[in-house]
Order: sequence, then C-alpha cells, then structure tokens
Amino acid sequence: MQEQQFIPSKKFQLPKEGRVAWESPSNIALVKYWGKYGEQLPKNASISFTLSHCKTTTQLSFEKKDTIENFSFEIYLDGKRTESFEPKIKKFFERVEVYLPFLKQYHFKIETQNSFPHSSGIASSASGMSALALCLLQLERQADSAMTEEFFNKKASFLARLGSGSAARSIQGNLVVWGKHKSVKNSSNLYGVAYDGLHDIFKEYQDTILLVDRGEKQVSSTVGHDLMHNHPFADQRFKQANENLEKLLPVLASGNLEEFIHIVEQEALSLHAMMMTSHPYFILMKPNTLQIINKIWEFRKSHNSKVCFTLDAGANVHVLYPKKEKEQVLDFIKNQLVVYCQKAMYLCDEVGSGAKSI
Ligand code: DP6
Repeated sequence: MQEQQFIPSKKFQLPKEGRVAWESPSNIALVKYWGKYGEQLPKNASISFTLSHCKTTTQLSFEKKDTIENFSFEIYLDGKRTESFEPKIKKFFERVEVYLPFLKQYHFKIETQNSFPHSSGIASSASGMSALALCLLQLERQADSAMTEEFFNKKASFLARLGSGSAARSIQGNLVVWGKHKSVKNSSNLYGVAYDGLHDIFKEYQDTILLVDRGEKQVSSTVGHDLMHNHPFADQRFKQANENLEKLLPVLASGNLEEFIHIVEQEALSLHAMMMTSHPYFILMKPNTLQIINKIWEFRKSHNSKVCFTLDAGANVHVLYPKKEKEQVLDFIKNQLVVYCQKAMYLCDEVGSGAKSI
C-alpha cells in the first residue's frame, strides 16, 4: 500500500463541532528501531509488546472556524496550557495535512494526560502521538461511515508514525511489527501491523520499569536516529536487527524463554553500543543501570529465573518476566533494585491490547 491511499478520495460532510477521546498505550521494543530515512521511514523492522498501564489519554474538541489559512489549536497537559508542545504539534499537523485535508478548517482544543508521572524519563511520544492521531482520524471516520476497522487501524498507525516512529506500534496489541520484513506478511515501512502468533506465556508478560534517571533526555531520539547516518556500523546493525526479528518470531510463538532473553538483551545492548560508537558519542546508561543489569544476571542464575531486561534510549531499565514469576521478581526488585532507582520509583506494567476509544 502506498502513501496515496491514505489521502481521502471523496468529499465528506464534516461535522461542525464535536469531541472525541482516545487512550493509547506506550510500547516496549524487543527489536529496536534506531535509524530512519525519508519521512519517518525505518532503516530496519522492529517489533514491540504493547503495554497496558503506561498510556496517554487525549480529548480533542473541534469547532469549524471562518478562515482556513492557518492551523489553529491549543494544548493542555494535565489541565494546564502547554505552549512548549505547540511547535511539535504544528510540525505534525504540517506532515499529516495532506492525509487529513480538513485540519485547517477547525480550531482544536487538545487536552492530554499521561498515566505515568511527568518527567519520569518514560517516553510519552509513542502514546501521545498515537492518541492524537487516533482522535484526528476519528473525526474523519465520523464523516466517512464506510471506513473499515482495518483501514482505520492502518491509517492511525501511518499518521502516528509521522509524529513519532515508535508511535506507529501503539495502535494495536499485543505484538506489533513496524517495517518491511520478509517473514511478516503485510508488513510495511508505512505503518505497524498487529502480529498474530504470541505464545500464551507472552500474552501476560510483565514489564516493570525502573526509573533510574528521571531527568531530561540527554539526546533526543531525533538526534539519536540522525547519528546512524554515516555511522561506521550502521549497515551491520540494520542487518542484525532484521535477523534478530527473524529469530524472534518462532521464539515468540513457541515460548522459548532462553532464546527470548538472549535476543532481547542483545538488542538492548546493541542499541546502546550504537550510541557509544557514533560521532559524537554518548553513554546513556548510568552507573545504576549497570548495577541493575548485573543484579538481574545474578538473580537469573541463582534463582533459575527467566527475568531479563531491555533498555530504550536512556538509563531506565525495563524488567521483563513471565507472570508466574511476578511475586518473586517484585520481591527481588523491592529488596535489591529500588536502591538504584531515583526516589525508589518504579512502574508496573504488562502486555496490553492496544488503544481504546473512550
Ligand atoms: C530507542 O520513536 O522516539 O525507543 O521517530 O524520532 O520520534 P522518532 O523516534 P522514537 O525512537 C524510539 C527509539 C527506541 C527504540 C524503539 O522504540 O524501537
């Protein structure tokens, strides 16, 4: 499917005013997206678990206006007008306008809240951009009752991607692939597709996020992705990611936890290795990140556990484990890992089923 298919081909009778609301989850990549080209297209395919509790709720109120020269919107985070978000949203509107040609006809009020604490160091771009994309597309769907559920999900992911790449993986659950991959039928660089083929053990997998560093991101993901241009190991990395995805698919279907751990931890460390070897170079892990990783490895060995970790482009650690180990792993976290967290903070999440209209 090409981009053009997301440009509405008919004229709709648009509503004069109204309000829609969506809640959309965050996701955690098992095979990482790091490196992009063109307009938000990934250099390799990635796969993620959709999360359940870390989410953004967005309410979009819209009202037709008299002039159609400019975009017109206001954004509120937790009830407070947040002008600092406006440039990012304006850029997003500019990118998606061709696919949502009615944008300039309205004044929008965007009210948004995250379920996770502000400046927790948890990326809100995946849940935030997907929630906004869903709300805007819902407006179009109100005017086009023939739009199928399948098309709605595809276009929502397509639009979310134009806001933030990883947001393309936050529309559906429980496992989503974004990026063309020979082993995933219907996969595309343009949008994420739900991947059916998850062993029961992963359907309720746990993700406890340890907040090691709640500060501002040292490197924005846009700058980070840019560092993959002219990176000495870029081609090898994109190849490795596609191969890891190939290896992970049968593992996700069979529930082979040994292999799962191996691939997921290798992906996390490869992502950080890319940052350590770029120009300029960065170390985004903190000493406490390494302390936690070592403790997880010790615990896994001494308790014959299947706990493992993954990382995003920061110092926080996602601790992944099967539900049947929940009690034991949470005890381990409380007794041995919270000392490495800022203000002893951590968030308990698990695999979820995707965004919901509310
Ligand atoms: C490390 O989706 O935040 O979390 O497309 O520039 O918004 P932009 O980047 P973003 O990159 C996320 C990268 C990652 C890995 C992943 O989620 O796959």
